[in-house]
Amino acid sequence: MLEIVSKIKDEFEAGLKAVSNSEELEALRIKFLGKKGALTDVLKSLKDMDAETKKQVGMEVNALKGEMEESLKANGKRLEEALYDMAMAASPKFDFTIPSEDNGGSLHPITIVQRRIEDIFKSMGFIIEDGIEIQTEYNNFEAVNIPKDHPARDMQDTYYLSNGQLLKTHTSAAQNYIMRKYGAPEPGKPLRVLFPGRCFRNENIDACHENTFFQMEGMMIGDDISISNLIYFMKVLLSEVFERDVKVRLRPGFFPFVEPGFELDINCLICGGEGCPTCKQSGWLELLPCGMIHPNVLRMGGIDPDKYTGFAFGLGLTRLAMMKYGIKDIRVLNSGNLKALKQFK
Ligand code: PHE
Repeated sequence: MLEIVSKIKDEFEAGLKAVSNSEELEALRIKFLGKKGALTDVLKSLKDMDAETKKQVGMEVNALKGEMEESLKANGKRLEEALYDMAMAASPKFDFTIPSEDNGGSLHPITIVQRRIEDIFKSMGFIIEDGIEIQTEYNNFEAVNIPKDHPARDMQDTYYLSNGQLLKTHTSAAQNYIMRKYGAPEPGKPLRVLFPGRCFRNENIDACHENTFFQMEGMMIGDDISISNLIYFMKVLLSEVFERDVKVRLRPGFFPFVEPGFELDINCLICGGEGCPTCKQSGWLELLPCGMIHPNVLRMGGIDPDKYTGFAFGLGLTRLAMMKYGIKDIRVLNSGNLKALKQFK
């Protein structure tokens, strides 16, 4: 019997040497230690042996069983490691500590200009607010003095949602919320807020029109705010952003939420004022509509128009980025074309 056990041992060791993957290893386990395995058979036959042989063979078989289990475990681990090494050798090599050649991503030109303007206004005491994109008709229109059936609603071709809400057509949609959030300012401490945001209008897309664009709205409300304050802030804004003198013109403009209202145009920086598709051949670009906040708008925002005045402006952020960087076609900005968008610093 002992001979048989030693033969099993040799066979097992030879088998183990030939194993090259975990399936083969499992087959080997079953062949020797499974329910009908070679060693299991010997164990089963122990009951028919006399006491002395039983003791001897039993000890041998148990020792061998332990050895086999140990070897199977060790080899399983070895095979697993080998498999991992093989996979690693076959995969491309990465060294995550090497800096990437082109420094990875880049900021979108609109983000760059937005942050620049936020910094300028923050340094002048403005708070930055965020406006939501899905708005109620009330906030987008009524609260800024554009009642139902007012022709001004047609100026902004609106995307309505099936639940009656809409995609905001201008950042002015946040005016009412902001007035209510901060309330009437303390004397000598005007409320100064800047609120950039993405806006949507159902426009036919061409070189100078997009259905998705960015605006940046600003508001200053206090007990002593006048048009001179408005003009001062607009001048600072433009000279800081363009870092050079730009020709501007101020003309009357109509917006139901300001009175008086202005259009501040800049000389087209793409063509130098000669006329091009970007400025619709006019040489000028409407960039900064603005004005003194209409008393109705203040009143709806919970601020007494007899005590307070304020100005608001709605900078065309997308246009400003185009002018700053000489981007001729607005479609580049939403294109996701990394080659084009990566150039801006
Ligand atoms: N909300 C206006 C528009 O998008 C712009 C604007 C803002 C005009 C603030 C005046 C004051 O057309």
